[in-house]
Amino acid sequence: MFAKRVKNAPRSFTRKILDVIGERDIISFAGGLPDESLFPHELIKNEVNNMLENMPKSMYQYSQSKGAVELRRELAKNYANSHEDQILITTGSQQGLDILCKAFINTGDTIIVEAPSYLAALNLFALYEANIVEVELTSRGVNTTQLEELFATKKPKFFYTIPTFQNPTGWSWSGECKKEVARLARKYSVIIIEDSPYNALKYEDADELDFEELIPELSVTLGTFSKTLVPDFRIGWMRADEKFLKVFQVMKENTDLLSPKFFQRIIAKMMKDGKLALHVETLKEKYKEKRDTMAKALEIEFGKTIEYETPKGGMFFWIKFDDDIDTMKLFDKVIKEGVAYVPGCVFFKGSKSSSYARLNFTNATLKEIKRGIKRLKKAFLAREI
Ligand SMILES: Cc1ncc(COP(=O)(O)O)c(C=O)c1O
Repeated sequence: MFAKRVKNAPRSFTRKILDVIGERDIISFAGGLPDESLFPHELIKNEVNNMLENMPKSMYQYSQSKGAVELRRELAKNYANSHEDQILITTGSQQGLDILCKAFINTGDTIIVEAPSYLAALNLFALYEANIVEVELTSRGVNTTQLEELFATKKPKFFYTIPTFQNPTGWSWSGECKKEVARLARKYSVIIIEDSPYNALKYEDADELDFEELIPELSVTLGTFSKTLVPDFRIGWMRADEKFLKVFQVMKENTDLLSPKFFQRIIAKMMKDGKLALHVETLKEKYKEKRDTMAKALEIEFGKTIEYETPKGGMFFWIKFDDDIDTMKLFDKVIKEGVAYVPGCVFFKGSKSSSYARLNFTNATLKEIKRGIKRLKKAFLAREI
């Protein structure tokens, strides 16, 4: 009955975990959720009331699929080489990923991803029947020797990367790595897709160079307000050279015509008068405290028995147990102790077994972080019983 692609579309493991957590008293480090106590409700309420008072009725009308010009103009200011006509507003950056697939992927086309990578992107690429090829990732960037070999031999449609405060690792590439990848992309004419949902959540110095600066003509940037404002507005964007953007616009029109502009205009105003930037400062302060609390709790409970690097930004720790521990197998014990992580295997193509786990630190309270890491230690100690 269903199309062939349906069997290529597994339900995200993270969603399944979220269902289990919903049923029980579990401290969750699993989802990539922001802290809802920090959603700026009063600010949004004021802006909405203002907008309703002052907007013309024409604002409810169908309009350009590119999105509200006020917002595109504000976004363009954050880029070195781009203007408002190089920006397309999308329904979250997840729609940006879907548009990329529609625009570039025929069945069997090769694309390259970091190993590990963002689960929902991997699932989507599989849905479009791409031939997904992985390149090794370390905490300083991708293995560029391996990447060159892949660029030269596989003729990929694009290389999808999250170089800053990555999901799932929290790692950030060095500037040298980015420059080398830009050089390779030019040499082999490969499009770089830079997914950047976490860039603004920066807690200490990290390299800020982006591919828009290094290789604007061959890079596409995806962005979102899900992590800096609220996920529910479902507002993201794509930034690209106009030759790409025109095609993306047609792909979007064929999907949903346009994204609602009401909240786009509200965000544009918040950006223009600096209120969004102020809110992000608050988030950074609070999230840094949570990150430090998790780092300290991991240090106290696990010492040298696990490996990890404290992320300089974003929302995740990527911790590694001994090689003989499969975090998927440990998962039942972890849940039994009343805590949840995402087993590392789901972030790799083919879900190969992994001794890594992803821990989110933005959603839990400081108390829950301390208690949750203690529970994780208990599950770890109970693994051989
Ligand atoms: C790397 C990455 N890309 C895209 C998204 C999707 O975000 P949005 O809410 O904008 O669709 C996420 C969400 O967690 C993400 O981590």
